[in-house]
Amino acid sequence: MSTKEQLIIFDTTLRDGEQSPGASMTRDEKIRIARQLEKLGVNVIEAGFAAASPGDFEAIQTIAKTIKTSTVCSLARANANDVRRAGEAITPAQSGRIHTFIATSPIHMEKKLRMAPDQVVEQAIMAVKLAREYTGDVEFSAEDAVRSDMDFLVRIFSEVIKAGAKTINVPDTVGYSIPALWGERMRQLIEQVPGSDKVIWSTHCHNDLGMAVANSLAAVMNGARQVECTINGLGERAGNASLEEIVMAVRTRKDIFPVETRIDATQIVPTSKLVSSITGYPVQPNKAIVGANAFAHESGIHQDGVLKHRETYEIMRAEDVGWNANKLVLGKLSGRNAFRTRLKDLGIELDDNALNEAFARFKDLADKKSEIFDEDLQALVSDMEPSEVQETYQLDTLEVQSKTGSRPHAKLSLRVKGETVQAEAEGSGPVDAAFKAIENIAQSGTDLLLYSVNAITSGTDSQGEVTVRLEHAGRVINGNGADTDIVVASVKAYLNALNLLASGKLRINPQEGDHV
Ligand code: KIV
Ligand code: ZN
Repeated sequence: MSTKEQLIIFDTTLRDGEQSPGASMTRDEKIRIARQLEKLGVNVIEAGFAAASPGDFEAIQTIAKTIKTSTVCSLARANANDVRRAGEAITPAQSGRIHTFIATSPIHMEKKLRMAPDQVVEQAIMAVKLAREYTGDVEFSAEDAVRSDMDFLVRIFSEVIKAGAKTINVPDTVGYSIPALWGERMRQLIEQVPGSDKVIWSTHCHNDLGMAVANSLAAVMNGARQVECTINGLGERAGNASLEEIVMAVRTRKDIFPVETRIDATQIVPTSKLVSSITGYPVQPNKAIVGANAFAHESGIHQDGVLKHRETYEIMRAEDVGWNANKLVLGKLSGRNAFRTRLKDLGIELDDNALNEAFARFKDLADKKSEIFDEDLQALVSDMEPSEVQETYQLDTLEVQSKTGSRPHAKLSLRVKGETVQAEAEGSGPVDAAFKAIENIAQSGTDLLLYSVNAITSGTDSQGEVTVRLEHAGRVINGNGADTDIVVASVKAYLNALNLLASGKLRINPQEGDHV
């Protein structure tokens, strides 16, 4: 029997991760990620911010109905409306949590909230008490705790503990701390806050100085028993602490950490790939644990060492974190049942119509590509417009000419609200020409912020996965598309972004909107 304490892994990919520019996800995409997080074994899934929009509320409620073995949580600012929305959204969950927060640093209280410290304490107590009417599992966060006065933190935390909070989260909202100071802050809070032994202490670190993981682990060494983190370190600005790095640090350095997690590490890489494919945020090749090079030994000396004795250069095994888990699944001759079963194993459940469409796309893909991997199936499903997105623009046909010494040219035909419209354009490359042709039709008035192409699997017959990030009137939207032809994938991604824009789903950022 292990003598170690449990480290609670609180995943906020669907909430803080979704606050990354353009990373907003549709309801169906959130449900797929939530299912995968459950399979990964996270203790708490922060499924969103219920008061942000009716779409967010509905997504959290559906996740609350679907997920059985993880706690489902909604964020709520410390005001009555937000707490009620969060409470209603998590009601169907077998285990539901409300996470309420308010800023506690002088700069946030004065400039953002325009509230006196006494009012902030009152508001926090009110929010926690109200949240307790919905669930016994209430978390309180002091936003910008890193720049908050220590005595004020002790005061507000002791008050919310009396009001019924069960988890106290200490965020480094702006990624300002360093490990020694952050660990010390956690230690002092646990020592000084009356009632600290009745709650779980939690840490939530942003990565602005590249220290989110190190700071989180320092907090764990000093008594934190919950870490808030995201897959691939996704999140606002430089992101949050990365789940995979926290989990593997604790597991690999069992000798120094007094805690263990219940994470099934073999699900780490599949989860990373899913989140990357849905959000369009590629993983840098040298990223720890989930980067394509994380276990690749280039230099001759390293290769020689690894061949002679693996542990000479490897502290973890690639297969332990789920590399090579992308089994060859299906081929050209696979039937509908095998296809449906494999999708189900991947946590994807489609109704009959969607399944028919997905199966037709699979057969098309199998004609172009003999080996179909799990990542191909994920991309194939991601590529189908979810039911809540209006398909204003659909690609009908595309013809591109690209020849050395002449300017590339694209001619395409789109179905726009059911009507066929054609356009053509030249560009500096075939993708540029195709985007210009689309714009001749759509006149969207958007700016292209980012264009990226990623090979889903290896080999030149791999599908290219394209992300297009557009900005329109201050709104940023990511479109994704996949195809074995990268010009077609690019056009699909561009149209997907335009369709998301046309669906006009506006949400507020919990940390920017009016608080009270
Ligand atoms: O970074 C932060 O402070 C947050 C809070 C809402 C916990 O995300
Ligand atoms: Zn945050």
